[in-house]
Amino acid sequence: MVFESGQRGTDDVFESGQRGTDDVTTRLRAVVAQALQIREETIFDGLGYRLISEWDSLAHVGLMLDLEREFGVSIDTDTVATLDSFGTIELYVRNSLGEAPPEPPATPGTSEGPPPATPPAIERGLAGVYFDTTEIASIDGQRGELLYRGYDIQDLVACSSFEETAYLLLHGALPDAAELASFDAELRAARAVPDAVLDVIRPLRHAHPSEVLRTAVSALASLEDSPPDASPAADLQRVIRLTAQVPTLVAAHHALRRDRSPVAPDPELSHAANYLWMVNQTRPSERAARIVDRVFILHADHGANASTFAARVAASTGSDVYAALTAAIATFSGPLHGGAIEHVLTLVREIGRPERAAAYIRELRANHKVVMGFGHRVYRTEDPRSRYLQTAARELSYELGQPDLIEILDAVVEAMRPYSEKGVGVNVDFYAGVIYRLLDLPQDLFVPSFAVGRTPGWLAQLQEQYANNIVIRPLQHYVGPRRRPYPQLAERGKAGSPESASLAARV
Ligand code: COA
Repeated sequence: MVFESGQRGTDDVFESGQRGTDDVTTRLRAVVAQALQIREETIFDGLGYRLISEWDSLAHVGLMLDLEREFGVSIDTDTVATLDSFGTIELYVRNSLGEAPPEPPATPGTSEGPPPATPPAIERGLAGVYFDTTEIASIDGQRGELLYRGYDIQDLVACSSFEETAYLLLHGALPDAAELASFDAELRAARAVPDAVLDVIRPLRHAHPSEVLRTAVSALASLEDSPPDASPAADLQRVIRLTAQVPTLVAAHHALRRDRSPVAPDPELSHAANYLWMVNQTRPSERAARIVDRVFILHADHGANASTFAARVAASTGSDVYAALTAAIATFSGPLHGGAIEHVLTLVREIGRPERAAAYIRELRANHKVVMGFGHRVYRTEDPRSRYLQTAARELSYELGQPDLIEILDAVVEAMRPYSEKGVGVNVDFYAGVIYRLLDLPQDLFVPSFAVGRTPGWLAQLQEQYANNIVIRPLQHYVGPRRRPYPQLAERGKAGSPESASLAARV
């Protein structure tokens, strides 16, 4: 049979060229594997240009030359850009061999050229857009499921530790006993921060701790050996240092603003226990340390959320890990993202008593204000992270004789029931702030404490970005004024000038 454009068979034979489809596919896979230096088993139809680090622009040109040589086809310059996946290459080669006119598939716009005739589809807020692949976190927003590297967070929170989870995120697999011990020892040994960074923090005593953390992480970059060692071993050391030192930076600022000397990190304590020790300067109970350890596990990663995306955008330009982490912390602190954890406690304080919750929520909604700790871009059901957090907040609230806190939260949940039924449910921030409050953390430390937990996730995401980088650069659809003549200063604002005409058109 003759292959029509775009049609593919499995056992058929081309009339012209008399090649079995399997043969063409097999040869194509071999050419692609050889040109890109990848294994043939990793090739699939959707494998695309720049989806993997091996398929960069030079390798793409090399691949085109190999295709021309191997199949005797001709690939002109315009076509080169359209052959951007294994599937499109196969289609093009088959069409060429079948002597049908080559019909390379149209590619989506990749330049900000002339405005398209019809407005492009715009996904505001990039909602529902996949910008890359990942092997770190998988979120099922319909079923309310979150997995880190394939492990359910409910299992991790029940059985793992923060250190083990951090290792999992950073290395891709759970550690064995020796690996965990060595990773943990490295973290404990790396906790102390350079004195110079304390000098940066000291004058910022009145600043919000999130701002200080952002500044301090940025400052750490300047305190690196210069020029920075770019070897993989040095990169790993940087990741260990940042994971270990973010808690120390938060606690040091907290001490300095209370006119106390920062206490030294205690190498005998776990990551979570040591954080509580450095912040409160009293030994935490085992129970408090274990709760914070679990909160850190739940906070450790959450896919392509705004702060992680910001970090990956920064990294995609080749900025270093400090710059990218600074971008993450800056983005994280907004009230619609990590900042919500702090605002939930304000809501609890303003409500004051459980019986006032319903009226408070009614008023917020009447004023079209969002309820902090509710709603999520991805989840349409229970945020799976809230399950343990709710239990812990309830237990602590009663144990510590502050039942009002959980009872107010329960009353808010009840008042929000009509919204929850429409998919706006409790999110990760709703109970976590109350837990931190019950463990004596001041309200403005909630966001940086969340950042302490999130640090290994951010760093794992950065490793993934660096390993298979492409500059993240989407498009904007321009809807402003069309090309217009430039008016000299003296001409502007006069009746009849192009400026006043366009102003008149707008009002
Ligand atoms: N309170 C009241 N209404 C809410 C709400 C909330 N917390 N969250 C979402 N909604 C409403 C939206 O206003 C929207 O209504 P509309 O269709 O009439 O415009 C509808 O529910 C659907 O919103 P959705 O598209 O699912 O949310 P989003 O992706 O635009 O926003 C958040 C997600 C997180 C920014 C939003 O839920 C929010 O602001 N929550 C409060 C802050 C917070 O807790 N952030 C932490 C997130 S982990």
